[in-house]
Amino acid sequence: MSLIKNIHLLTVLVSISGFVLRGVWMVMDSPRLNQRWIKILPHVNDTILLITGITLAIHIKQYPFVHDWLTAKIIALMIYIGLGMLTIRHGYSKQQRIITWLAAILVFLYMVGIARTRNAFFLF
Ligand code: HEM
Repeated sequence: MSLIKNIHLLTVLVSISGFVLRGVWMVMDSPRLNQRWIKILPHVNDTILLITGITLAIHIKQYPFVHDWLTAKIIALMIYIGLGMLTIRHGYSKQQRIITWLAAILVFLYMVGIARTRNAFFLF
């Protein structure tokens, strides 16, 4: 199971690094954002992130909508995805996209905090 956990952690790292990098390119109006792999890799990575997360949950017999911290993690994940979609969507001003980008990064850090403490309210 430590292999699964390591893959989970690796995909967590790839996910946030990629998201930060794409945000920087967005701020810079970089054409690099249009590279093909940029549109594919996040989906592949996030799918592995989700599958390993579910596998870990089954292993420790703790589940979203049963155990609060995993419920909070899933809700935060949906907010992270939503903010991420707003960040890459055209039609929003750059300022709006920078705000959703930064907010998504905060939500991501919150998820890491939840995972480490197994407590949705670790901040309080
Ligand atoms: C972007 C999304 C996610 C992030 C940032 C994230 C982050 C993390 C981190 C940092 C750990 C290691 C905690 C530690 O051992 O100190 C972890 C473990 C874990 N994650 Fe995730 N995770 C994400 C998505 C998910 C999803 C979708 C699920 C389940 C549906 C999930 C379930 C778990 C479980 C069960 C563990 C093991 C916790 C333990 O053994 O104490 N994760 N996650």
